[in-house]
Amino acid sequence: MRVLICEDAAAAARRTADLLCAQVAARADAVLGLATGGTMEPVYALLRARCAAGTLDLSRVTTFNLDEYIGLPQDHPQSYRATIQRMLFDAARIPPERGHFPDGTAPDPGAASAQYEGLIAAAGGIDLQLLGIGENGHIGFNEPTSSLGSRTRPKTLTQSTRAANARFFGPDEKAPRFAITMGIATVLDARACVLIATGHKKAAAVAAAIEGPVSAVCPASALQMHPAATLLLDPEAAADLTLREYYDTVHPGGGEAPL
Ligand code: PGA
Repeated sequence: MRVLICEDAAAAARRTADLLCAQVAARADAVLGLATGGTMEPVYALLRARCAAGTLDLSRVTTFNLDEYIGLPQDHPQSYRATIQRMLFDAARIPPERGHFPDGTAPDPGAASAQYEGLIAAAGGIDLQLLGIGENGHIGFNEPTSSLGSRTRPKTLTQSTRAANARFFGPDEKAPRFAITMGIATVLDARACVLIATGHKKAAAVAAAIEGPVSAVCPASALQMHPAATLLLDPEAAADLTLREYYDTVHPGGGEAPL
């Protein structure tokens, strides 16, 4: 695992955007796995700005979103399809047919999940998967105790995830209880994984993911098994790491290794 502790949250977002840009520079028609959540918002703002400035061209990429709520209409502003459309697709001029989302409106979510796995495989797999992390250690909506071998499937959200997501919904709305999410094994199939975590609320989950045992209780710990996982942290999210000095030595200021 590459553990990059950046100067602050803005620097972590910048480095995340840089890694995505490097992937697209290496392969203009890259297959990108996209994540949503508050932590990702500054990353997408940077990508929009780079597209507007002409320094980034996302018009040839193919994308797969990590997860989607079950039961929200696709045009609900908090559906992840609508969120990514607003945060990235409109400004980046990504053709709509290149964006893929688990179908949270499908009558048979299990069948829709299997179909999603097929679409990822047909695209040749994911080159770079963006990830956030939940306060409970989830990646995507793989809640604690999700099988480390899981594939895309419907999941019941934990109370803590629903509470964390309630802020995105109006006072009269209930945060959805179910979602379709890529599985942990689906995520691990990506050729590179880039996880960003900022803020003190993520410190315990980050420490468990990096320094704890590989365990379904902390789904993000599965990234320890991935040969090309990069974790971008701000100092608050890194606060509970025991080997902090080592990470700072290997990647001073969150930069590349001096080797
Ligand atoms: P957040 O969500 O960025 O809104 O904290 C991250 C996640 O739950 O994966």
